[in-house]
Amino acid sequence: MTELRVPGDKSISHRALLLAALAGGESRIRGILTGEDPRATASILGELGVRVPPLVADAELRITGVGVRGLRAPDRILDCANSGTTARLMLGVLAGQELEATLTGDESLRRRPMRRVTDPLSRMGARFEPLSAPGRLPLRVTGGPLCFLDYRLPVASAQLKSALLLAGVTGGVPVELVEPGRSRDHTERMLAAAGCALASSREGVANRVHLTASPSALDPVDLVVPGDFSSAAFPVALALLGGAGEGIVLRGVGLNPTRTGLLPVLDRMNARIEVHERSVPERGEPTGDLVIHPSDLTGTEVRPGEIPGLIDEVPVLAVLAARARGTTRITGAEELRVKESDRLGALAANLTSLGVEVEELPDGLVIEGTGRPLSGAVEARGDHRIAMAFGVLGALAGNAINVDAPAAVDVSYPGFWEMLERASRPAARPPVGDSGEDDLEPARPFRERGRGPVIVIDGPAGSGKSTTAREVARRLGFRHLDSGALYRALTCALLESGRPPESWPALTESDLNAHPVRMVAAGSAFRTMLGARPLTTELRSPEVDAHVSAVARLPAVRGWLLDRQRQAGEEGSLVGDGRDLGTVVFPEAEVKVFLVADVAERARRRLLQKGREPDSGSEVSAEVDRLSSRDHIDATRGIAPLKKAADAFEVDGTRLSFAEQVEAILRVVRARVGDRDARDLDFQGMIDA
Ligand code: S3P
Repeated sequence: MTELRVPGDKSISHRALLLAALAGGESRIRGILTGEDPRATASILGELGVRVPPLVADAELRITGVGVRGLRAPDRILDCANSGTTARLMLGVLAGQELEATLTGDESLRRRPMRRVTDPLSRMGARFEPLSAPGRLPLRVTGGPLCFLDYRLPVASAQLKSALLLAGVTGGVPVELVEPGRSRDHTERMLAAAGCALASSREGVANRVHLTASPSALDPVDLVVPGDFSSAAFPVALALLGGAGEGIVLRGVGLNPTRTGLLPVLDRMNARIEVHERSVPERGEPTGDLVIHPSDLTGTEVRPGEIPGLIDEVPVLAVLAARARGTTRITGAEELRVKESDRLGALAANLTSLGVEVEELPDGLVIEGTGRPLSGAVEARGDHRIAMAFGVLGALAGNAINVDAPAAVDVSYPGFWEMLERASRPAARPPVGDSGEDDLEPARPFRERGRGPVIVIDGPAGSGKSTTAREVARRLGFRHLDSGALYRALTCALLESGRPPESWPALTESDLNAHPVRMVAAGSAFRTMLGARPLTTELRSPEVDAHVSAVARLPAVRGWLLDRQRQAGEEGSLVGDGRDLGTVVFPEAEVKVFLVADVAERARRRLLQKGREPDSGSEVSAEVDRLSSRDHIDATRGIAPLKKAADAFEVDGTRLSFAEQVEAILRVVRARVGDRDARDLDFQGMIDA
């Protein structure tokens, strides 16, 4: 069985940072999550005068607290990025500080409701001024002396509960709360460990929490952050659905009972999971190991009272339900509409587009399980848990799913795609690249019948190669290799290294080896990585635009990137686009297309792509000039000039719509690969077309 550890718990990581900042003395935290969400909390604490070292996986983090009311007024707007926990908990922390600060967040966070937090905090005496829409970020907070609060929460929300308890601590006042269901209790546990007097009791399904007193100096945090149960849910699902051979052993997972509500649901679904509790401290967090076996799942009913205990696991549960026998009905989950995305909407839309029967309820989902192969594109809406849930589904044999925003996972699970790649290979085999052997049995659906065809689309700048290749790949259930992204990634790395561009022509292979640029298979796509960092928007920065052609002309670079492109192509079942894929990189490619279009049409498309009005004559002619000179450079460069391979099929897209262009290429594929092979390879979309 594959053994894994998942990254540190996100909720506990935020709280550890906050309480360490407010403590009187030095805190020591091990196993903190290094994802983007806790990084947002750490950087805001930095703005507020707390020295927080960079978050590094597996290193001990030491923070010297500034005291419960010792935060400093920030010079800048505090950016919570995508993190709801940062925003809400920080509102509570700031409520008790005599200072003014402005909090904001990314587009998703600016849509999420904040009034649930600001209403009760206003009752305590803090002031909030929304700077854009009412009840939304950005918000200006003016903290100050607070009075006690006795409050019934409108929703079972740990973020809300924690914000109010933290306001009680920074304001030095008692807080008595009743929540309609029992949400996660990490804050209560950590406040108790820091010396606060707290009591909690159940009142039917409701939960009463009473912070009676908090010390003027909190004890420092001394903590090992357990693995995040919510992150563990993804490898759990992979193993249950048979995507990880004999199964998975997950070590060191947090098993706080307010977090593990997924387990009894999975039990009803017939899941074979062994839970071995290893440590059940009186204070602090219980942890243990999970052993997950492939299971024949059946549908179930998930009731409203169960939702708080599995609030973040609904996306992965929906994916499990899509593969279970029978119907799964989830209700009482309306809170999911105001998470990082409207998760009910996102799940219903994506499952439907993959071919799963789903009914979207105002507060839930009804999902009919199916054993059919699932293929298509998933729009993750920038939401980490939607991306990961469908990532798991895409890693299963028979499915070919392309998730549009793979980098979203970094919010809570850095290394998710690498985990998926490793775990979905049969156990006891080292990851590719470690052994030097090439007989590793592939685990992905389209690799099962051996190496699939390599399809290349070369052509001049602006011919729409990249978007066309991506769509052709999606239709075939193949991976898309955007070779230009590799050149851009290297350009990015060179710019970041600070080496002056004039010195780049002298770069040798060993200089280039200092830049860990590679393509990593991520579900049914490739991600461009620089070391452990996925590159996304950086690849299209104006600086990269300005230098990439010069980089791509360097012989040392072309040789060096050749290996990386070929590596990506080893498993086949790939649609690549570039300028020399058919002539140099994959001369043996089964299908070669040379995509051209008249230069004025290419200029028009480029402008449209940049959101400009292509009718303004001077802009079009300036773009025509740019493209013509680019064509000239590409066609006349000494090394790997742009030219049509002798066996390439030319597609002229000048008068074709995007859809027609894609269809034309699919016809070439069918003609070249042959109907028989096409059927074997399950080119369903294409044969139907
Ligand atoms: C969290 C609480 C949950 C959860 C979020 C983290 C926390 O939100 O969805 O990912 O750390 O307190 P609510 O309890 O507010 O629904």
